[in-house]
Amino acid sequence: MRLIDLPKILDERGNLSFVEELTQIPFEIERVYWIYDVPGGERRGGHAYRENQEFIIALSGSFDVLLDNGNERKVFSLNRSYYGVYVPKGVWREMNNFSTNSVALIMSSTPYSKADYIYNYEEFLQYAAAKTQSGPDKPKQV
Ligand code: TYD
Repeated sequence: MRLIDLPKILDERGNLSFVEELTQIPFEIERVYWIYDVPGGERRGGHAYRENQEFIIALSGSFDVLLDNGNERKVFSLNRSYYGVYVPKGVWREMNNFSTNSVALIMSSTPYSKADYIYNYEEFLQYAAAKTQSGPDKPKQV
């Protein structure tokens, strides 16, 4: 859970930024989606992914991304399109404070899978604690 600055190509015709998988961000991009026309006061997210990793950019406007790895909570305020926040797998995330006309662009490491979601915060805490005990990527003992 950290901010990643993106390349910024500035010239008199305007600005350009880009993302290449495994270069600016530490995963291969399997899916891209975007969130827009969020009514004032609405929240998005409120879940964690078991496997999916994300990179979130505020393409337009601003919003906050709250990340919680079970030990530590951080709020990232995104409001420029030349940086974004990296969300590793197994991190609880919420998005709120969307400004009018904001657009969130999200790059994901896996195709959409409902089974990958953890929607219950208590369940997430148990999952995060179990992961910490067994090591981040160790397969379960049988
Ligand atoms: P969800 O991931 O819960 O949105 P958020 O995290 O922004 O609150 O997804 C909302 C709905 O959209 C849900 O019914 C599943 C669907 N969806 C897809 O079909 N494909 C996707 O890639 C995503 C992200 C969501």
